[in-house]
Amino acid sequence: LKTAPFKLIIAGAPASGKGTQCELIKLKYGVIHLSTGDMLRAAVAAGSEVGKRAKDFMDAGKLVPDEVIIGAVKERLAAPDCVESGWLLDGFPRTPAQAKALADAGIFADCFIFLNVPDDILVERVVGRRTDPVTGKIYHMKFNIPKDKEILARLTQRSDDTEEKIKVRLEQFHSNVASVRGRYADIDIEVDGTKTPEEVSGMIAKSIDAMIFARHCRRHPS
Ligand code: AP5
Repeated sequence: LKTAPFKLIIAGAPASGKGTQCELIKLKYGVIHLSTGDMLRAAVAAGSEVGKRAKDFMDAGKLVPDEVIIGAVKERLAAPDCVESGWLLDGFPRTPAQAKALADAGIFADCFIFLNVPDDILVERVVGRRTDPVTGKIYHMKFNIPKDKEILARLTQRSDDTEEKIKVRLEQFHSNVASVRGRYADIDIEVDGTKTPEEVSGMIAKSIDAMIFARHCRRHPS
């Protein structure tokens, strides 16, 4: 099935598994993974203007102001690698203003993947999450412990991954999710994110393939 580069959005609550699934989706569909959380953490670490404006909001578990992130995302999506290979937006759009900014710029996605995970499960995922600073790979101290002792010893924990901060992050998520999702009702794919990562990625791939096939049939009726 010949088709244009894929344009995908993945959404879900904090720690619902977006980053974990993005690793698998980008391998299967060859898209460029753009995580606004990763972009902002890199900006903070580099001490850039965006990083300086974002830092206090991120430390508090709050969303950074729309005007700080919208320009950076639009610029990144226009870069040659994204135009050629397609993209997978992770953590954006997260507010109605961000979704409107994409539409106003003529940027549309093929699928909006929503990972559904209840809040009580998210807290356990957040406090146990660790990241390998060398490879960027995501682990969990209960669900996905690295076998290599060297990797285990160098794992780091995000400063916003505490029980206190996850409450604020969940509030921000719940106050925006319905209006953002509403904009993508025609391309929405809801997946049960409580299953194992492999089961979740299987369900995502099946849904993306079905949606892409349906789009192909609409464009090439025979
Ligand atoms: P961001 O980095 O986007 O954080 P988030 O949305 O809170 O999402 P997470 O990265 O916490 O989780 P995830 O869904 O990727 O889960 P993961 O795969 O790691 O944003 C951070 C901050 O940046 C925001 O608070 C805000 O300040 C700012 N920001 C970012 N984007 C913004 C925007 N657009 N506008 C404004 N501000 C913005 O999984 C979590 C854990 O669970 C891992 O340990 C993993 O191993 C485990 N796990 C994953 N899947 C499973 C499974 N199926 N079963 C069991 N365990 C699993």
